[in-house]
Amino acid sequence: MRHHPIDPQLFIANRERLVQQMRGRSLAVVNANDVLPTNADGTLVMQPNSDLFYLAGVEQEESILVLAPDAFDETQREMLFLREPNEHLKTWEGHKLSRDEATRISGIRQVRWLSEFRAEFHKLMCEMDRVYLNSNEHKRAVVEVETRDARFIRDVQARYPLHRYHRLAQLMHPLRAVKSETELGLIRHACGITRRAFLRVLKFVKPGVNECEVEAEFAHEFVRNRAKFAYNPIVAAGANACVLHYLQNDQPCRKGEVLLLDVAASYANYNSDLTRTIPVNGRFTRRQRQVYRAVLRILRAMIRATVPGKLHRDWQKEAEALTQEELLRLGLLTPRDVRGQDPAKPALKKYFMHGLGHVLGLDVHDVGFMEQPFAPGWVLTVEPGIYIPEEGFGVRLENNVVVTPDGPVDLMADIPIEPDEIEALMR
Ligand code: GLY
Ligand code: MN
Ligand code: MN
Repeated sequence: MRHHPIDPQLFIANRERLVQQMRGRSLAVVNANDVLPTNADGTLVMQPNSDLFYLAGVEQEESILVLAPDAFDETQREMLFLREPNEHLKTWEGHKLSRDEATRISGIRQVRWLSEFRAEFHKLMCEMDRVYLNSNEHKRAVVEVETRDARFIRDVQARYPLHRYHRLAQLMHPLRAVKSETELGLIRHACGITRRAFLRVLKFVKPGVNECEVEAEFAHEFVRNRAKFAYNPIVAAGANACVLHYLQNDQPCRKGEVLLLDVAASYANYNSDLTRTIPVNGRFTRRQRQVYRAVLRILRAMIRATVPGKLHRDWQKEAEALTQEELLRLGLLTPRDVRGQDPAKPALKKYFMHGLGHVLGLDVHDVGFMEQPFAPGWVLTVEPGIYIPEEGFGVRLENNVVVTPDGPVDLMADIPIEPDEIEALMR
């Protein structure tokens, strides 16, 4: 665990909120993520399971959380199962959580070893009628490998075919969508680290540096602050900015180009998500500044429009209407392009082809019901852009915003964005 300790009250409160949603005589199980294989005996670094972290603050592989609020035996109502530490593990993998440590982190009193799981689970299954199991229900997820949760579902349903099974995701998503003060504090902390790294990069970038050197500056600042990349960083000079998921980061940054940086930190598994676009030689050209100011106006207007009750679909439409106006003003679209356009394929999509933003939290494209209206406590990214391959550049700006009853709160309001300020900081 690289982050500083978190008050276990966060996880205790999260479990209480979940338990209130569960039906009578039910239990819920959440598994850690798999350690995924690569080649030969290689593995990827494990990504902690967001639901397990949300409910228990635990990041260790193979862990299993079981919640059974109606269990007759009080000690079975909340149990965390962990790998049992031993000398071999200590030598090869280092420290594993002791039971006391796991209790301190999670607030769960009953921490047991995995060897006890089968028997304890069986006892609970004999008492309970309903079982909540976890599945990835993110609309954009493409899952080709069978996950640990999916294997668990198959195994449990084969051995206990007569129970009633339910989707834990249906309960978890609305809970996770609304961030508590502690969660907002962690997201703010991630935004603060991202800010420091961006300021460092503003001093570093000049003609001739490679995109990968810029990535390294971010890495340095993130890691020394106990954070990591929230997602694969996009460091895209010149026309590379028009490749929306550009990940190569291996090209030189040239004089006269702008550099798109979609790079942000994750701290204690809570993510930030920043995009800035800066001039490689410290000065925007007239045209770059014109496009930049257009995107900045859309960003500001759409941050103001991030209010409770708004539907994601309508928010997107508002952004597209503003973008269309700006594209007309920039001469990229003509009134003729816009008149009589197919509403399913509006002309502006040529220059702004992605969504305005997404919910953010323990996942970068977080879970939540995007068909429901924005509600207080949601955190959203706002990320308009204009991409002009024929002019060899693109501009995107992205901030993170909390929805509150009193209007949006911009968590990145202190990260430089005015073109004059960017230029001054690069001098
Ligand atoms: N960096 C990922 C995104 O902006 O959605
Ligand atoms: Mn981003
Ligand atoms: Mn984003």
